[in-house]
Amino acid sequence: MIGLLHTRSIGADVERVDGRAKVTGAAAYAFDQPVENPAYLHPVRSAVARGRVTGLDTAAAEAADGVLAVLTHRNAPRLASTDDTELAVLQDDAVAFHGQFVAAVVAETPEAARRAAALVAVEYAGEPHDVVLSADRDDLYAAQEPEEHGDVDAAIAAAAVVHDATYTTPPEFNNPMEPHTSVAVWDDGGLTVYESTQGVHTVRPVLAEVFGLDPERVRVIARYVGGGFGSKGTVHANVVLAGLAARALPGRPVKFALTRQDMFRVAGYRTPTVQRVRLAADADGRLTAVEHDVVEQSARIKEFVEGCTKPTRGMYAAPNRRYRQRMATLDVPVTSWMRAPGECPGMFALESAMDEAAIACGLDPVEFRVRNDTRTDPDSGKPFSTRNLVACLREGARRFGWEGRDPAPGVRRDGDWLVGTGVAGSCYPVISDPGSAAVVRYGADGRYQVSIGAADIGTGAWTALTQIAADALRVPMDRIDLRIGDSALPRATVAGGSSGTTNWGTAVVEAARAFRDQHGVHPREGDEARGEMRENTAKEHYAMSAYGAQFAEVRVHAGTGEVRVQRMVGVFAVGRIVNARTARSQLLGGMVMGVSMALHEHGVRDPRFGHVVNHDLAEYHVAANADIGDMEAVWIEEEDPHVNPMGTKGIGEIGIVGAAAAIANAAHHATGVRVRDLPLTTDAFVR
Ligand code: MOS
Repeated sequence: MIGLLHTRSIGADVERVDGRAKVTGAAAYAFDQPVENPAYLHPVRSAVARGRVTGLDTAAAEAADGVLAVLTHRNAPRLASTDDTELAVLQDDAVAFHGQFVAAVVAETPEAARRAAALVAVEYAGEPHDVVLSADRDDLYAAQEPEEHGDVDAAIAAAAVVHDATYTTPPEFNNPMEPHTSVAVWDDGGLTVYESTQGVHTVRPVLAEVFGLDPERVRVIARYVGGGFGSKGTVHANVVLAGLAARALPGRPVKFALTRQDMFRVAGYRTPTVQRVRLAADADGRLTAVEHDVVEQSARIKEFVEGCTKPTRGMYAAPNRRYRQRMATLDVPVTSWMRAPGECPGMFALESAMDEAAIACGLDPVEFRVRNDTRTDPDSGKPFSTRNLVACLREGARRFGWEGRDPAPGVRRDGDWLVGTGVAGSCYPVISDPGSAAVVRYGADGRYQVSIGAADIGTGAWTALTQIAADALRVPMDRIDLRIGDSALPRATVAGGSSGTTNWGTAVVEAARAFRDQHGVHPREGDEARGEMRENTAKEHYAMSAYGAQFAEVRVHAGTGEVRVQRMVGVFAVGRIVNARTARSQLLGGMVMGVSMALHEHGVRDPRFGHVVNHDLAEYHVAANADIGDMEAVWIEEEDPHVNPMGTKGIGEIGIVGAAAAIANAAHHATGVRVRDLPLTTDAFVR
């Protein structure tokens, strides 16, 4: 038991401390950095999905106005390490996916670089490629040993109700407003990079290894970041390419921003999934078996496994459980993190299946979930630190007006529109990692400098950490001078896994407590103390997760099949809320992205060439204002003394989990048509 921090600032509805800087344009993002005499990079991308570069004619590009250098695998500086194949950019002639960087032009202006890049002539020896995922390929390999608790086959044979169906989700692409951007500066044999990243301390050791530098010689700075849904949580080839170019051009910092189209090539994306779910229930609607069998793709160049069975493991009680995860290796760009990797697509399948099973059992879908709640984690047997799934379902049902819902599908009509309602559960684990540290120092201005190399990717970390520091030091927020976003500051874990507030906040609390212990309440200028986030030993005794319930009202046009999400209510149990304003924004943002997933997002890869055809925001649709109806995100009071000193659970990802299932379930209720393949395009509903 950690014991909760006493709070004054925490829980308040506080304006963003960085809000003014952002809306006035004073906040400098990576590309805005005023470095001296910058050069600009534009890449040349592979036109084949697999093969070798056999010819390169760079003469026309080199002769073009303003061009400083044309880099290819023949002349680019050698990297010290090519162990991470995704990052081994311009090191050899191999091509592993369509759109991979095969050359780069550096020029005096972005326009000159882009024009000259089009003048680089590349010849390839293409090899047959394979970019199509299907669940019946004969070359699937097991990403992990199949896992079984109890006897699923026996339970299914004895069940009163068995539901067995396959759900699919398409490739989905991270589209933060600010694309991946790097400004690389070589100086005195060291490298400074202004990078749009979810973790300056995540990038630093990777660049140190790739460039063969002592980590102390690498500095990564990211004070403001224009969004990150996971793609900026790991290092991609773009920053290495910027670093290579800057090294090749002494005295010239290099600026490199991905185009929106490049975001579909080299920034990571969510794998398509094919998920078979089998649920068995007894005559009372109690689950006796759960089986989740997942097929995904991974790039030939680097393996990434999206753990879609994760949420199924802890969600509902069922004595017999089986999980299987298989992969196809394809000639595609590297798959990676995107908001709630695993939980998000996994819960689309599970929560759609739960809706279908509830109907098969003749039970209301809220009641069916309540009936299958569990007080202990089914796999580990541990109790939960707190678990308020049922409270979320009940409160959501009350707010949404669920009571009295007619379960019959396809019977409510409003003019030309069919109307239906649906529900889904949400969960996201409380992730905590040791290793973040913070330093508190008393400044000449009588304010407490609180330093930690954390990242605010738009989540509100600037504000939340200021609140946490203020409470831990027992001073008002304006006495806190927070410093984040620089690897010169104490080490901090990545802004990923909804773990930032847990990890960084704990380090800040530890540093503040140490400061108070050492220097009391009347410190002198220069007094300083350090604190660290250590392993939370309560994890040995408790399973820890956030929960939620999402309710949707959907209209489907009887003539065209157009789907509109009229109304959504999300109720979440996510521990203590640090800042009501930014928390609501995080949860709503997740739900909006869930609408986007349900209705629109679908990256279409052309099997002939291996590229994504709709690689821009004109054709890869994301939810816009007109897609969002009445949307409410609220939370229930939850005091969890085990998760961390603040009592918080992560809120960045849970909002997207289950949202698409709630919408698909509502679309079924409206029309009687069960769509198991996202997105919910019009053709599915027109018969
Ligand atoms: Mo998020 S996908 O955990 O960066």
